[in-house]
Amino acid sequence: MKNHLLIFLSLITLVACQPKDPTEQKIDHLLSQMTLEEKIAQMSQLAGEQYPEDLETYVRNGLGSMLNVMGEDANYYQRIAVEESRLGIPILFARDVIHGYRTIYPIPLGQAATFDLDLVKEAARLTAQEAMQAGIRWTFSPMVDISRDPRWGRVAEGYGEDTYLTSVMGAATVQGYQGSDSIIQLAACVKHFVGYGASEGGRDYNTTWIPEVQLRETYLPPFKASLDAGSLSIMCSFNEINGVPTSANKHLNVNLLRHEWQYDGVLVSDYASSQNMIAHGNCKDLREATLLSINAQMDMDMENHAYFKHLKELVEEGLVREEQLDVCVRDILRMKFRLGLFDNPYCAVENPVYYSSEALAAAQRAAEESAVLLKNNGILPLSSSPHHLTTVLICGPLANSQNDQNGTWCFDKVDSATVTPLMAFRELAKQGKICVIEQTGKHWSREESQTNIMQLTRLAKQADVVLYFGGEESILSGEARCRAHLDLPGDQSAQIRALKATGKPVVLTVMAGRPLCIGEDIERVDAVLYAFHGGTMQGPALANLITGVVAPSGRLPITFPQAVGQIPMYYNKKNSGRPTSNPVLYEDIPVGAAQFSIGADSYWLEYGDKPLYPFGYGLTYTTFEYGPVTVSDSILVSSSSCLIASCEITNTGTTDGVAVPQLYIRDLVGSITRPIRELKGFQRVNIPAGESRVVSFVLTEADLAYWHLAEGVDLGADGHYTYLAEAGDFHVWIAPHSAEGHPAQFTLKK
Ligand code: NOJ
Repeated sequence: MKNHLLIFLSLITLVACQPKDPTEQKIDHLLSQMTLEEKIAQMSQLAGEQYPEDLETYVRNGLGSMLNVMGEDANYYQRIAVEESRLGIPILFARDVIHGYRTIYPIPLGQAATFDLDLVKEAARLTAQEAMQAGIRWTFSPMVDISRDPRWGRVAEGYGEDTYLTSVMGAATVQGYQGSDSIIQLAACVKHFVGYGASEGGRDYNTTWIPEVQLRETYLPPFKASLDAGSLSIMCSFNEINGVPTSANKHLNVNLLRHEWQYDGVLVSDYASSQNMIAHGNCKDLREATLLSINAQMDMDMENHAYFKHLKELVEEGLVREEQLDVCVRDILRMKFRLGLFDNPYCAVENPVYYSSEALAAAQRAAEESAVLLKNNGILPLSSSPHHLTTVLICGPLANSQNDQNGTWCFDKVDSATVTPLMAFRELAKQGKICVIEQTGKHWSREESQTNIMQLTRLAKQADVVLYFGGEESILSGEARCRAHLDLPGDQSAQIRALKATGKPVVLTVMAGRPLCIGEDIERVDAVLYAFHGGTMQGPALANLITGVVAPSGRLPITFPQAVGQIPMYYNKKNSGRPTSNPVLYEDIPVGAAQFSIGADSYWLEYGDKPLYPFGYGLTYTTFEYGPVTVSDSILVSSSSCLIASCEITNTGTTDGVAVPQLYIRDLVGSITRPIRELKGFQRVNIPAGESRVVSFVLTEADLAYWHLAEGVDLGADGHYTYLAEAGDFHVWIAPHSAEGHPAQFTLKK
């Protein structure tokens, strides 16, 4: 006992004698001088579009952050903050820079389709470079909300349905924005914490109910990965989760984020999300919302005016302790120091350089790599011969829409700088590489058709190939843009039918913010490139893909259902007790009477149990053969060893290509049932025609672990979860997508 006491006392002495971190010392110094009002101002963010008339007074009084103030304006207000506020604390200027500032990269869902982490990181780095020249030092990205419901408009803003893919994409994006120097470039803000993508019915802002085990397994890991990558901040979400809005969710924001994860960055509300708690029915007025938010340690209040209006009285009445505010202010000041704002407060430059050749090249590469070839009957790439120049008809609503191809959430793009497919093909025609005829009338989804189908078919007859660029207008995805029908809006399907009736080959390129259920359109055409909204350079990227200058290498980051009625549909589902006899996914289930008798797993009478395209799917201009998966050992011994899973991939075609082998595992028996497959890794491998490459992945016990309730604890009890792997048999696949391949088996021994 005595010994224990001695050890304890020496530990305390050791900690006390450690010199305090210099940044924390500076924060101590500032905090000790701040009045209650100054602390509250520091914890508030006002939005540019909702300026109070006396905004300058707010700044003089120590406002913490401004949203959507840029350029000269940013420097103007910064001067007031630095020179005229009592303590000279600089303002942090924020903006939603989601997939590019001026140069626009593919929407995040498209970026996920690249399966290329280096490229995604590079796009974020170049984005930060552009945004910072406008004075922006805080972006509200990445969005790592897992969503399995393509009706939800915000599915465009995230990285799809898979927890692993979203985690690594989120982390790469954070690293790209923030850089690797000790002074952080553009502060990332991982959002929306948490469960927002699970809103009922795919309706934005809607209720979510997520049991803790599922929350930890599916929804939380991408947040943890982004925070581990260094994200300086995290944003609450609009949804309530299990009955409590996230802005006031103590379990998530305090127990999990602060205690379990030890996070010392900034937690910011979403736009007026505290105020929204009144409508949720969680509190009666803004004063109560303020109390709930501060008690959930929400550091910064985005455009709620809640902290400004009520925090002072709550402290004065003794309902909130001033130390609670100190904790929040400390987080905010820490972020400002990490950004080097005190030394370099004026970030907006007079002559910013946008659209550098480096940025445009990266944008084009990202657009090329994000396009997924779903179907090709051999028409692509377009063949060319010096004796006969191919004549293409360029048509469809997205063929020349500079605005729409940029997609949702890009406030700072300049449409005239965007290169459309029509512009890119015209350029090829100028160079004498192709002949172009065009019909590109606009026919928006909510208006009567304006397309002259007769003219369209007349033109098609003059062409060798029809290149139809269809999809969704940019305003059909993003916040509050949910769809009940996932078709091609307007009269696009009618146009495709008419074009096909001409007998000419039709190549359909879909530029959209989500998966669409367009099986019938796909049936009718000869090739389909699913290109998402690809940004500034999508036109040249598509021209390169279609003419074979580059080969498609994108893979689907989300399952494409055949029909809306199949939603939610995702690859890493669990088996029911009566699984269907899918020979691939269920080959390990003994073929017993139950499967084929009445009572075998039911499926949709109209569509069976298959998606239109599975997660991870994508073709290219060559073919690959995957050899059998081998494992270095049939036994993995607890934490002491690792396994190497390998497979030989052969390019069986006549052109070079990029294979994207995906590593999946399945834990065959779990005390909490396990999904039928889980992605654990992927690679992009260039394989020349006719050659083979061996790809290998390392598997450790950590890859096999999942969340359990600690023994003897009731479901739902806080903080009693353990992350561990159970001994037993596992399957491992190295496969071209989530619905193909033959697994090898190994055993985890503990
Ligand atoms: C609301 C959105 O939900 C969030 O993603 C965004 O960052 C904020 N508004 C700020 O614009």
